[in-house]
Amino acid sequence: MIASRRSLSQVAFATLIDNLTKAAIMDGATSFATLLRRLPGVYPTELLASLDRLADREVIEPAVAMSVRRQATANGAAVIEGRSLLPLPHPLDYEWRFTPDASRSLLNRATDLTPNGGDLLLFGTPGLAVEALTLPIGRRLSFLAENNSVTDRVFALNQATGEPLSIAFCSAGLPRESADAVLLDPPWYLDFVRPMLAAAAHACRLGGGVLISLPPDGARPSAEADRQAAVAFAYRLGLEVIDYSPLAIGYETPFFERNALAAASIYPPPQWRRGDLVVFRKSRATTRPSSASSSRRRDWTEVGIGRMRLFIREAGNVRSDEARLVSLVDGDILPTVSRRDPRRRSANVWTSGNRVFQTDNPQLILEAAISCAGEAMGSSVQPSLWGTIRRRETLERVAAELRALAAIEEQEEGKTPAIATERSVAWRTSSTKYWSRSTATISG
Ligand SMILES: C[S@@+](CC[C@H](N)C(=O)[O-])C[C@H]1O[C@@H](n2cnc3c(N)ncnc32)[C@H](O)[C@@H]1O
Repeated sequence: MIASRRSLSQVAFATLIDNLTKAAIMDGATSFATLLRRLPGVYPTELLASLDRLADREVIEPAVAMSVRRQATANGAAVIEGRSLLPLPHPLDYEWRFTPDASRSLLNRATDLTPNGGDLLLFGTPGLAVEALTLPIGRRLSFLAENNSVTDRVFALNQATGEPLSIAFCSAGLPRESADAVLLDPPWYLDFVRPMLAAAAHACRLGGGVLISLPPDGARPSAEADRQAAVAFAYRLGLEVIDYSPLAIGYETPFFERNALAAASIYPPPQWRRGDLVVFRKSRATTRPSSASSSRRRDWTEVGIGRMRLFIREAGNVRSDEARLVSLVDGDILPTVSRRDPRRRSANVWTSGNRVFQTDNPQLILEAAISCAGEAMGSSVQPSLWGTIRRRETLERVAAELRALAAIEEQEEGKTPAIATERSVAWRTSSTKYWSRSTATISG
């Protein structure tokens, strides 16, 4: 964690994973689940590739590689549902939620850091916020959140439980020296980690603690370098490392990742992913950060259709009554969740089940999605009063496609389709403007 390192090349990363895999096997770990548990956050497909390399080079018995692959591709494991109180996580939010155990242990660590009482700030952690609502923590709690449908649900749950949390949006300004411990879990990319760490340092009182989850060595070639860059950056913010616990934080496998892996015919155990916990003490004052957000997602609009969260990338107005959802990958589910996948750039329609599409008319897809969401809310939405018959036909066809997608994803999730009964919420994420029935007529 001290000397600064550069990102590993793909070859060096493969060698690192091979050495770790070989050592784990020599140590008796020969099942898919045990290997994933033993290795430092190695992605399931990377593990299988490593086993193939090791078997090819006769470093391990081919039978071991074959047996692990058989376990990995057997779709028999019962799916353990994550926290069902929140909407599904969406891949564009990079939302990996902690396991309940990890949430409790993080909250315990934060209270231990503040033995004489004090205020806790949860930052970018909606799952942890929901967990905290039901626990006897004995501290004032606040939650600094993104403005999206997940936070909306946290708001509702907070109200229903007597408002133990005070909730604020990071877009409304950042808190200053107002917490004795800050728990944050930014998406594992430096363009998120840096601004969020700066905001956390700013929000923390002198002498207080900052707890962050960062990617373990096996997560990707740049994991160790990125972690070190984050620690060096934190030091410049007045934060000094007081504890480092590799692989201490467990995560649920989100539905989008389960679908991505299933598209590659891999069925991992539900809680294989772990993060490294780094704990800092704030020993010097910090300068004010300009903002906590990275520039992503500003141009995406979110619409809820049943449980499916559909994100549509806005574009200029297209003057056409035609719209198609064009497949970008076989079966429509992107088989990876990595931000480095180049296919992500072509997608402008994205579901919470990791289905990606390209459309030449995002505006019309959005109108169709809003009409589906309106139906689910019990209103009959008029997409446009002056549209042509052709346009109405297109809207009806696209709406039917979207409803079918939502039904498929509910089935994949292991639930009975419930589009007509579940209340949907839809809004724009690019601003604080919410979509509602009164804004349902969109000029075409
Ligand atoms: C890896 S997830 C962490 C979820 C956490 N493990 C939990 O269980 O609550 C990253 C989260 O950071 C949130 N996020 C990203 N940028 C943010 C920002 N500027 N302010 C607040 N939250 C942000 C995302 O919406 C997402 O929920």
